[in-house]
Amino acid sequence: MLRRLLTLLAVALLGLAVAQSQIEIFSWWAGDEGPALEALITQYEADHPGVEVVNATVTGGSGVNARAVLKTRMLGGDPPDSFQVHAGQELIGTWVVADRMEDLTFLYEEMGWFDAYPQGLIDAMSTDEGIWSVPVNIHRSNVMWFVPAKLEEWGITAPTSWSEFLTICPAIQANGVTPLALGENWTQVHLWESVALGVLGAEDYDKLWTTELAFTDPKALEVWDVFGQVLDCTNDDAAGLSWQQATDMVVGGTAAFNIMGDWAAGYMSTTLGLEPGVGYGWAASPGTNGVFMWLSDAFGLPMGINNREGTLDWLRLVGSAKGQDIFNPLKGSIAPHFESDLSLYNAYLKSAAADWQSNEVVGSLAHGAVAKEAFMSDFATVMEIYLATGSAEGAANAAQAIAGQVGLGQ
Ligand code: GAL
Repeated sequence: MLRRLLTLLAVALLGLAVAQSQIEIFSWWAGDEGPALEALITQYEADHPGVEVVNATVTGGSGVNARAVLKTRMLGGDPPDSFQVHAGQELIGTWVVADRMEDLTFLYEEMGWFDAYPQGLIDAMSTDEGIWSVPVNIHRSNVMWFVPAKLEEWGITAPTSWSEFLTICPAIQANGVTPLALGENWTQVHLWESVALGVLGAEDYDKLWTTELAFTDPKALEVWDVFGQVLDCTNDDAAGLSWQQATDMVVGGTAAFNIMGDWAAGYMSTTLGLEPGVGYGWAASPGTNGVFMWLSDAFGLPMGINNREGTLDWLRLVGSAKGQDIFNPLKGSIAPHFESDLSLYNAYLKSAAADWQSNEVVGSLAHGAVAKEAFMSDFATVMEIYLATGSAEGAANAAQAIAGQVGLGQ
């Protein structure tokens, strides 16, 4: 009996010795958004046998729910060891200004990352006081998705401008097909930014975020006018659909097109098992050819966490070419690290990587690159106002007022 007890004790102690510590990684990559993160966690645990990763997820595309939970935890003094956040203004305008994040300059120096990522990305993650996150990917926002065989069947091609889209819209509807699949509120903001880029062009689109172009300027008002016409070509049940369900409409042939970030490519390739170019096709969203609207998922180092050393190792993996090449082929994104091995990526991602190199680059509103989180989340209300009233002026005035309140561009 005693011997059995001692054996049990020894086994328990051994277990403790193997899993001495934990790190909690917080994100919204749950369910069918999860495979890329899970692969990265598997690699981390293989590299660090003593550390268990607690994969804490809050479901909800683009982090609409996760950000609220994160806020409660951060303000309550219970930060996760690291959390998913969009590189750029989303993190800087909230937790960096609130002095809740550690400057990662020392880690960038140790890892040689100042020379490993594009300068524009480094600039977007930095302030005069430091650099605040480690990027794991580059996603593209302005992509139009379709099924090539279906377009052929319907006798249409991917439109290269919004006016061309609006011209073919009635013919698609006449086939009993929804021209453009749409989902819940944030996916509408996502569509809006592609319409804005298509209508304004890169230069004026950029000026919205520096406030050089007012939301009430006639050019910006036109964005809402076009957006309203585009909405007339979408499904009535948009408000109740996730981005995956909107994507499913295209895959299932009940909708012709969808505008979504290239996590849709990850979903269609990794989750649905479709072959890029055959099971699904892509083009720059109308009027945006030659422009790459970027966003980046990143991780930072909050102050006051439980396992700083284990988390630094997490960040070392996240920011490495090795970690990024495990994560991104599954995720539908490309690696910011210059030493990424493109041969590991599928045909869609190879084309995204070529565009990232050659295109003009602008940042995403809906995914935290260009505007503070406060503006971004209030823009959901602007969208509600527009949907309820159909008034371009009303939406523009609201956007302008919010820009002033939150100090957009400052
Ligand atoms: C974006 C995020 C992507 C993907 C998407 C859908 O904001 O950057 O990685 O998760 O939301 O949830």
